[in-house]
Amino acid sequence: MRFKTFHIIKQRIKEGLPKEIMKQTGWLYFYARKYWLAIIFYTVIGFSGSLISIGSSLISKNLVDIITGHKTGALMQTFAAMIGFAIGSLLITQFSSYISNWINLKIDTEIKADIYEKMLSTDWEHIANYHTGDLLSRWSSDASTISNGILSWLPNLFISLFQFISAFAVMIYYDASFAIFSFIGIPVTLIMSRTLMNRMINNNKRSAAMNAKLQGFNQESFSNIQTIKAFDLIKVYINYLKSLQKEYITMRMDFQKLSIVTSILMSVVGLIVSYSSYGWGIYRVWSGAISYGTMTMFLSLSGSLTGSLNALIGTVPTAINLTTSAGRIVDILDMPKEDYSLDERVKEFYDSHKNEGITLTVKDLGYTYSNGCQVFEDAEIHAAPHEIVALVGPSGEGKTTMLRLLLSLLSPKEGNISLNAGDDCIPLTPSSRKLFSYVPQGNTMFSGTIAENMRNVKQDATDEEIINALKMSCAYDFVKKLPDTINSPLKERGGGLSEGQSQRLSIARALLRKSPILLLDEATSALDVATERRVLKNIMTDDYPRTCIVTTHRPTVLNICDRVYKISDKKCIVMSEDEVTAMIRG
Ligand SMILES: Nc1ncnc2c1ncn2[C@@H]1O[C@H](COP(=O)(O)OP(=O)(O)O)[C@@H](O)[C@H]1O
Ligand SMILES: [Mg+2]
Repeated sequence: MRFKTFHIIKQRIKEGLPKEIMKQTGWLYFYARKYWLAIIFYTVIGFSGSLISIGSSLISKNLVDIITGHKTGALMQTFAAMIGFAIGSLLITQFSSYISNWINLKIDTEIKADIYEKMLSTDWEHIANYHTGDLLSRWSSDASTISNGILSWLPNLFISLFQFISAFAVMIYYDASFAIFSFIGIPVTLIMSRTLMNRMINNNKRSAAMNAKLQGFNQESFSNIQTIKAFDLIKVYINYLKSLQKEYITMRMDFQKLSIVTSILMSVVGLIVSYSSYGWGIYRVWSGAISYGTMTMFLSLSGSLTGSLNALIGTVPTAINLTTSAGRIVDILDMPKEDYSLDERVKEFYDSHKNEGITLTVKDLGYTYSNGCQVFEDAEIHAAPHEIVALVGPSGEGKTTMLRLLLSLLSPKEGNISLNAGDDCIPLTPSSRKLFSYVPQGNTMFSGTIAENMRNVKQDATDEEIINALKMSCAYDFVKKLPDTINSPLKERGGGLSEGQSQRLSIARALLRKSPILLLDEATSALDVATERRVLKNIMTDDYPRTCIVTTHRPTVLNICDRVYKISDKKCIVMSEDEVTAMIRG
């Protein structure tokens, strides 16, 4: 037995659990420290609750003593005090619940906003490995566990200790022999708490993973209702859900079994404690050592002793819950953060060169995704203001990856990407995204009106500016026919529009931002050839000194581009005019 325990401890140390828990506790401390006033408030409220309950026990002792004749007079006063206590405790409970709700809400939202910000500024390559459902569940339920836990755990620990000690002190004062009963339960509860703790750590992890899975499943189903219907998968998905729910029920019932065993044991311990103090009390009254009143007081005090012991033990699962949730959030927060330290420098660079434009140069670039998929080796690109540079190549060769590298969503392992205007040059970092506008592949409109979507990237844009951008991207052709024109609402992910229409809106949004460098990722793929040419021509003839990089697999627009790079076999090589002509002819 001893050997086994030793083995388990060794295993735990090997798994790094203590280090992990220490780190999570340290992280929690950082948050808790900010809310020390609220924590003290909760503790004081809890203390006053314990004092009120002890006061009530003392008053009821007096009342019983008066009735049984050991003391005379003061019946009315004692009765009045009892009612006073009851009303006082009612008011304190309601007031403190009002205040504590307010504090809870404030801290919960504050912590969530903080974690939200940290999640958004996490390096994209790392966070993109997580399912959005998982992220959502970490942000919502784990962050709530933390805000609730931070506020209640420490106060509860102190309050239960205080309740235990004060009840114990009163007992000793009136009859020390009673105090012994408060210890009967301790060994049993201690033994239980050890086994409980191990089970709880596992259960908590399982529960959090299960919640994330369900959340992800639901989210994905609801955003893909069209696909589910189109493939006639309604029944299949209902069955998926049912099997997940079955898994969920099994897990919850496992929890339930654990809690049934725990509460039975706790109740048995409670009963043993109260019956033995009852017996002892009867004996003491019978032998004349104490009054009836003292006996009733002891019975209620022994109840509060057992209660506070149980509450003390209850702080263990809360602590485990807290560290599990903290661990799940720290996992995310521990990932590398994006470095925005060059924000000021980029702003300065932009302000001094916005009239001449910015040249982008890629040299000897190599990139391999973390899963080992190598996309580039010695890639080159050169793009200057007023130029449209095309990246062409078959699907899956790395066009999108190149744009992600330019946007610093991915960081290159080899080579160099620089932005320069004359002799002035800055390196590419997340800060330099300010210089870019991007039209991603796929539909990336948000819900809200067309104008709101446009103002997302330029808050102070006038209606006129918006309409101009829409005209340049040939989107105004259809927007002007909508009942509310630019104030017409869009559904989630641009629902309600054709693909070509939302592509044109995405282009308008990127143009409205007026950034020196414009990246279009197959952004005209759903347009007819004539419209595609019109859009690109409009961009080219605009006075604004834009550097434009487009990816395409359609050769039809290549002859209006200044330079064409072919992406294939991990290279990005400029094509000669003859090669481009040959490609256009097919
Ligand atoms: N997040 C990612 N993690 C790992 N590999 C990726 C990731 N995104 C794309 N790839 C791989 O990189 C290659 C290039 O993809 P991509 O740049 O999207 O191609 P293209 O845009 O030219 O169609 C593909 O082989 C793809 O499987
Ligand atoms: Mg692509």
